[in-house]
Amino acid sequence: FAFSSRAKSVVAMAANEEFTGNLKRQLAKLFDVSLKLTVPDEPSVEPLVAASALGKFGDYQCNNAMGLWSIIKGKGTQFKGPPAVGQALVKSLPTSEMVESCSVAGPGFINVVLSAKWMAKSIENMLIDGVDTWAPTLSVKRAVVDFSSPNIAKEMHVGHLRSTIIGDTLARMLEYSHVEVLRRNHVGDWGTQFGMLIEYLFEKFPDTDSVTETAIGDLQVFYKASKHKFDLDEAFKEKAQQAVVRLQGGDPVYRKAWAKICDISRTEFAKVYQRLRVELEEKGESFYNPHIAKVIEELNSKGLVEESEGARVIFLEGFDIPLMVVKSDGGFNYASTDLTALWYRLNEEKAEWIIYVTDVGQQQHFNMFFKAARKAGWLPDNDKTYPRVNHVGFGLVLGEDGKRFRTRATDVVRLVDLLDEAKTRSKLALIERGKDKEWTPEELDQTAEAVGYGAVKYADLKNNRLTNYTFSFDQMLNDKGNTAVYLLYAHARICSIIRKSGKDIDELKKTGKLALDHADERALGLHLLRFAETVEEACTNLLPSVLCEYLYNLSEHFTRFYSNCQVNGSPEETSRLLLCEATAIVMRKCFHLLGITPVYKI
Ligand code: ARG
Repeated sequence: FAFSSRAKSVVAMAANEEFTGNLKRQLAKLFDVSLKLTVPDEPSVEPLVAASALGKFGDYQCNNAMGLWSIIKGKGTQFKGPPAVGQALVKSLPTSEMVESCSVAGPGFINVVLSAKWMAKSIENMLIDGVDTWAPTLSVKRAVVDFSSPNIAKEMHVGHLRSTIIGDTLARMLEYSHVEVLRRNHVGDWGTQFGMLIEYLFEKFPDTDSVTETAIGDLQVFYKASKHKFDLDEAFKEKAQQAVVRLQGGDPVYRKAWAKICDISRTEFAKVYQRLRVELEEKGESFYNPHIAKVIEELNSKGLVEESEGARVIFLEGFDIPLMVVKSDGGFNYASTDLTALWYRLNEEKAEWIIYVTDVGQQQHFNMFFKAARKAGWLPDNDKTYPRVNHVGFGLVLGEDGKRFRTRATDVVRLVDLLDEAKTRSKLALIERGKDKEWTPEELDQTAEAVGYGAVKYADLKNNRLTNYTFSFDQMLNDKGNTAVYLLYAHARICSIIRKSGKDIDELKKTGKLALDHADERALGLHLLRFAETVEEACTNLLPSVLCEYLYNLSEHFTRFYSNCQVNGSPEETSRLLLCEATAIVMRKCFHLLGITPVYKI
């Protein structure tokens, strides 16, 4: 038994080191040792550790005993049944400062009660070293998040807004988890629409060089007018088709006109990104154009590409239609560009995880070209191993009438107007509460902005992304319920509790002690310690809603603590102020990951 006792003490030492961020994983490590000691002949059994749903019997549970029993019972084991296996696992569990006690219940569930002392110490450490020490470390080094991605000269609609908000949050969560993220704006800047746009530009402004943004005015109106002409005027249509060929062939005059149109669109998109403070690097469809031919040739040489009705296609099992990669006129399409972009991201950018954020309507497109890439051997067959691709789909945005979201005046919603309205409404609400008399105009404006834009983002992120959601200013700007307004106010209230104490919180962090004696203090502390595993889960499942739920529950835990435990002026004041501060820090980190600016005063 020389080996096993050494293994036990090595892990005991490791576990007694600091909290490494992921409670669940740290416990799993302990149970892994006890599994190896209890059933040395079953080395492939992985520890099954989960947070306890009710919290009545323990904080975490280990659920290996039942499964293990069914594996070993036929093999002449010494154990009498699952509860005995559970007991043995508990007995072999390395001693650790983090575990207070373990008990076996029912058919063999192992309930783990964490040590409140250890929990308190871990939170104290976070207060000193910062919440970034809790950041998970994923096994991926570099990821691409392909998001927002509107189309040049067409409207940037609420679908693109969703993609922008969800994509930014995913990027932020991955960045926090030590992944290098390439934030890619895959703008549609290479479609056939450019033929008619350019020809129309030449007609309206023969002196193209001097055309300014204001002269063209509204690019969407311009797009509609050129489309109108394209549909009615045969000669114009022909010219437009020629123009596409010239543009794609690299004619400098056409290239220049194209660049001008792209620039005007870009200025429009930037207004949205600036408001939301979202950073993106544009590598549009045109970027991949020089590589398309060789990529299609590679697929061809692997025997994937076939001729079908004049076009070149890839047939894929499980799909009724083939994936078209070269059109019958020889031109490339959305799929050829996406295959090439994937090739580029894997080979040139060396990304291990490539994440695409679009509405679920595009799911089939993604499934098809992912499958083609697997067939070509670019990706492993198992879609959980790296390099890996994921389509992050989301549902529609509905208006309060239950139909696709639109405003009254026009049939499209201008995103800039939409965001501005959220800000205006939240400013009015603040003025109604007399804040214009209390605060400077800058404070009023900044708070209105943080609350207004935060409300739009949170209303989107809190839903399971696959479901459609109803866009309602009244709902999202409500200060009660699961809204950004409620959460931002909750945070500001915590800050004001700390301010009102008159204590120097940074000094307290260094000298003060934290205790989790009251049940509500303990529950809040435990929830704080679950932050890292929650971020990790939100990352691995690509679900921002998981983090929103955590944040909402955090503020509920805080409310319960604050209504049952007196803070200022109590004997436990120092400890409780530290718990307030820890809550505020974790809340701010959540806001940060959700792209929401926190407010400190209400
Ligand atoms: N431009 C596309 C659209 O507006 C979205 C592009 C998404 N990204 C991609 N690699 N296909 O629908």
